[in-house]
Amino acid sequence: MVSFGLLALTGLFCILVPILRHIQRLYLNYRLAKQTGLHIFIAPVDPYGILWQAGSRFFTPVLQHFQWCRIIDLSWTWEDDCTRHEKYGENFIVVSPAMNIIYTSDKVAVEEVLAKRKVFIKPKLYEMMNMFGKNVDTVNGEEWSRHRKITAPCFNERVSGFVWDESVRQSQAMLNQWLAQPEGKVSKMVDDTRIVALHVLYAAGFGVQHDFSGGVRISAPGHELSHRDTLMTMLNNFIATMIVAPQEAFFDKIAVILSPRMRSVLLAIKEFRRYTDEAIASERILLAQDRGDQKHNLMSTLIRTSDQAKVDGAQSAMKLTDDEIKGNIFIFNVAGHDTTANTLAYTFALLAINPEVQKWVIEEIDEVLLGDNSLVYEDAYPRLKRVMAVMYETLRLFGPVPQIPRGLVTPNVPLTITRPNSGTSMASSSSTTTLLIPPNTLVNLNIHAMHTTPSTYASHKVWNPKRWITSSSPMPQSAPSNPLTLQNENLLHMEQGFAPWASGPRICPGMKFAQVEFTAVLSTVLKRAWIAPSVKGGEGGSEMTAKTEVEALLQDSHHIGATISMKRPEDLWLKVSKR
Ligand code: HEM
Repeated sequence: MVSFGLLALTGLFCILVPILRHIQRLYLNYRLAKQTGLHIFIAPVDPYGILWQAGSRFFTPVLQHFQWCRIIDLSWTWEDDCTRHEKYGENFIVVSPAMNIIYTSDKVAVEEVLAKRKVFIKPKLYEMMNMFGKNVDTVNGEEWSRHRKITAPCFNERVSGFVWDESVRQSQAMLNQWLAQPEGKVSKMVDDTRIVALHVLYAAGFGVQHDFSGGVRISAPGHELSHRDTLMTMLNNFIATMIVAPQEAFFDKIAVILSPRMRSVLLAIKEFRRYTDEAIASERILLAQDRGDQKHNLMSTLIRTSDQAKVDGAQSAMKLTDDEIKGNIFIFNVAGHDTTANTLAYTFALLAINPEVQKWVIEEIDEVLLGDNSLVYEDAYPRLKRVMAVMYETLRLFGPVPQIPRGLVTPNVPLTITRPNSGTSMASSSSTTTLLIPPNTLVNLNIHAMHTTPSTYASHKVWNPKRWITSSSPMPQSAPSNPLTLQNENLLHMEQGFAPWASGPRICPGMKFAQVEFTAVLSTVLKRAWIAPSVKGGEGGSEMTAKTEVEALLQDSHHIGATISMKRPEDLWLKVSKR
């Protein structure tokens, strides 16, 4: 009897202690948050904890009417635009038992955070992406400088011409397939832009060229999955991948009792490792043959610099371990294709439902790309400003990275923010104030809210690429374009308030790569084709019904894996016809 009572007491103690600790931590964080004077939301769970991340899809439907549940859901920053910040301020704070999170859509704060990489660092949660090895995206300080010095130069201006040529080659083949469909009705646009982006990345980054119709969509000899399916399985099950990859041996042992989904994740991880090992091995063979004609790319640079450093015993500044090489191959695979592919897919759909914009951008393409010979990077790319305006505007509303989290190395760091209710004027000494960031706080840059702030963007919800073009021509913008007016047009560069590729020292190293690829693909397609909406299934339905369906589909997007993407990509039907 006594021992039963003791057991019950011990049990109660074991349950109560963690609950009390949880409440105490929540209270302490709340007191720290109070010091900021910002609007406070209280979330009783750790938003980045593995429990919430793994289980949120089950909890969210039940708890979604609680504000806190909504605000810790990964997709909220995309779904809510700037509305929550309009109501609660450009800066507000979420209190949770594990940490506090300041959300900011304030362009002054965003710029400062991104400029100071040594103060505002990649937080610990990025370590989850070290599953194949540390990489340039996840590390900080000197370690980051080392990774960046080796990887980023592989994507500089030197490779842009190559990215352009390969993008043209891939998109010509893609367009030929589209035009060969019955009535030009295409339902696999999202998949196709992914293939183009992967093939361009592999050609420019890994030195492997594929034809559009084959390549990464076909399993290589000895493999159970294609390279594309390997990546997509991991991206669509990102949390599961982060759990399984570091404990692969353990999950292998219990594979028989895993759910089919977890088994497919396990297989994808194994296949990715095999593809990576094979790619490294074949690059080493090429390097051993010392082929002077060999182009330098990410893969060859990673291996060459590292192997050379091992031989020379050179300073560690130019050396990566084998695991770090694999980690970087993984991160470039993910960051280097999903982002551009989704931007292209959203753009094709947006052009289809905005024919006047499509006409406007075609005017420029027809002018710049006169005859096939003009498809030369140096001649064409700098003149395709309207095409770039289209990319900017798609990234403003459908940017793949809607939020960027940062941690702090020391507590009580000052951050310049716009003074609440200081109107729309740019930062001046009177319009800004200083916020002391309390200990144990993350800063989450709400890029999507910043991109949809009405004070920066008039008609902020309207997809209007023309907002990015300024003209020094005396002709009104509404007048028909001619070579002269096009020549006088300039692309708007915003110092603050637009950061789809981030900014500062950790700005995306693939920005130019993505811009060149996007411009080449869009101009290749629109040079020969016109894109219109089509109803789901491709049969019947008026143009208006088709437009409404496509609009709804675009809004039905979510933050999954690493980026924003459509929930139902297979339902996107477009009609592509020769023009
Ligand atoms: C439209 C296309 C793209 C967009 C919108 C985009 C956006 C971004 C953003 C916002 C970041 C900063 C993330 C953070 O600091 O947490 C980033 C980082 C990064 N991106 Fe991109 N990206 C794009 C294309 C690419 C491409 C094509 C590549 C490679 C070829 C690439 C490779 C990377 C890498 C390696 C990082 C980490 C850099 C570092 O931390 O130093 N991205 N990207």
